[in-house]
Amino acid sequence: MTYAAKLKVLFSRSDIACTVGRLASEISRDYRDKNPLLIGILKGSFIFLADLVRELDFPLEVDFVTLSSYGSARESCGQVKMLQCLRTDPCGRHVLVVEDIVDSGLTTSFLLEHIRKQNPASLKLCALSDKPSRRRTPVRIDYLGFTVPDVFIVGYGTDCNEEFRNLADICYLEEEV
Ligand code: IMP
Ligand code: MG
Repeated sequence: MTYAAKLKVLFSRSDIACTVGRLASEISRDYRDKNPLLIGILKGSFIFLADLVRELDFPLEVDFVTLSSYGSARESCGQVKMLQCLRTDPCGRHVLVVEDIVDSGLTTSFLLEHIRKQNPASLKLCALSDKPSRRRTPVRIDYLGFTVPDVFIVGYGTDCNEEFRNLADICYLEEEV
């Protein structure tokens, strides 16, 4: 099977652009005068965050953390590791965490708890995709793009063993459904 043949598009690049625009309007409405600190979770959120901030026409700051719980498997191992921490102090800031996909919820709840201890002025979560059927810990998503079925998605930043991050569409691997 070829690289292209085993991939099926779940959300096209135009679906994604439309959804990112909608999320940007919601975020603009709430953060325009707050100079928010947007924190992207690497690596998966790098494309989403890059597209999102270019739709926001007000002052903001960007920082990143690198978190890992997956290793090379498709299941969360349950242990979240901080491979690279924040460089901006979130104390007193309006913080918006930006994630590619919430699956078990362990990664985002770990990070939200970590930031909450540092007394931000406010703390919310924006996720491009949510796979609620796989949740292991409750997570409140304040700004949500897509709800996805229980398939492993790749593209637009997300990977399978580091492959497919560069796809412009959000796809799934055909043999899974
Ligand atoms: P959680 O801790 O299980 O919620 O997983 C969150 C992280 O796992 C996300 O940031 C993604 O990087 C990765 N992940 C979860 N589901 C998928 C998927 O379907 N495709 C690619 N990566 C995923
Ligand atoms: Mg991720």
